[in-house]
Amino acid sequence: MSASADGIDRAILVLDRALRTLTGTVQSERPSPGSDVPETLLDAGQKQRSAGLMRVNHTGEICAQALYEGQAMVAREPSVRAWLENAAREETDHLAWCDTRLKELGSSPSILNPLFYAASLGLGVMTGILGDRISLGFVEATEDQVGEHLKDHLGKLPAEDGRSRAIVSAMRDEELAHGEGALAKGGESFPVPVRRFMRLLSKMMTTSTYRI
Ligand SMILES: [Fe+2]
Ligand SMILES: [Fe+2]
Repeated sequence: MSASADGIDRAILVLDRALRTLTGTVQSERPSPGSDVPETLLDAGQKQRSAGLMRVNHTGEICAQALYEGQAMVAREPSVRAWLENAAREETDHLAWCDTRLKELGSSPSILNPLFYAASLGLGVMTGILGDRISLGFVEATEDQVGEHLKDHLGKLPAEDGRSRAIVSAMRDEELAHGEGALAKGGESFPVPVRRFMRLLSKMMTTSTYRI
């Protein structure tokens, strides 16, 4: 196959994944941790709060798909690419779990998702180009932040919403494992100022998608 045909094939694959991610047609390989938890009757305020938080988490998982996709696309070592793709598979489950929960709460994903997907894909590619050690370091810094933010959500989600809580709690464990795995794979630990800047960026995402 010629180089340009190969390029077109890859572009179609990227577009196909983006469309599937953004239209909510991804399937989870593992059942949702919330599926065993009985549904409780939430009042309107609790439902709105849960939906807002789960919408933020859903967008976070959209970003994770795009980041890992971008990073894997340009990873140098085949074993690093395989590691990134494996973590991305768990993120696909997270995305599907959040999507289902949002629907159960009578709500829908953020309208800003295409924007965050595109920005994250670009960021993933840029980070990947800087080399595998930086790319894996970026995974660790991101997952560390996501873990903190999910812990914060466990404090904010209504105590009555066991289903959302089970999902967030399982996701948190896996995000932390992704972070630890990335360091073990040779990732470089990011300095505090970079982490602070990343926190600022994620704050923009979390405050906007809570409502829209
Ligand atoms: Fe995730
Ligand atoms: Fe993760």
